[in-house]
Amino acid sequence: MSRTPREVAELVRKMVAGEGISFADLFAADGVLTYLREEEVTGALARIAARFPDSRLAFDTYPLATFKWEHKMAAKRGLALWQWPCDDPRTLERLGLRLLESARVTRPPAGFRAELPARYRYLLPLADPILGQGVTLSLFRAAPGHSS
Ligand SMILES: C[S@@+](CC[C@H](N)C(=O)[O-])C[C@H]1O[C@@H](n2cnc3c(N)ncnc32)[C@H](O)[C@@H]1O
Repeated sequence: MSRTPREVAELVRKMVAGEGISFADLFAADGVLTYLREEEVTGALARIAARFPDSRLAFDTYPLATFKWEHKMAAKRGLALWQWPCDDPRTLERLGLRLLESARVTRPPAGFRAELPARYRYLLPLADPILGQGVTLSLFRAAPGHSS
């Protein structure tokens, strides 16, 4: 983030004082976007990117290959169906986002991975073809005007 703590404090002060400023540094969605239609998701992400430049967005995505499983399970249990598949989070950069980092169960963030016991670090890549095809958690920065 390019803002200093002092700048963030000043922004919060202005917002609380109602001095006409509205800002956000982080938007997070966990297990929700995939239930929405593609145009709802892309519309919301593009609006956030345009309205809150430099903010961060963290959310999970699910590849199309997992939808058959979810729809079967949802039908059995009477749950909502996933509607928005995303095979590659990088494609969302077209909405004015820049992908900073993506993680999967088998490909955790570098800092987290470094703390794992060696046996897990070696085993995780081997498990990737099976366990790595589900959820991806990605962190983006709103960068209007940026396109890949
Ligand atoms: C797997 S849960 C995730 C819960 C979330 N992490 C939380 O802490 O509340 C999925 C959530 O998405 C909501 N949901 C499903 N379809 C939705 C829709 N079309 N619009 C809004 N929310 C929806 C469900 O009600 C549920 O709360």
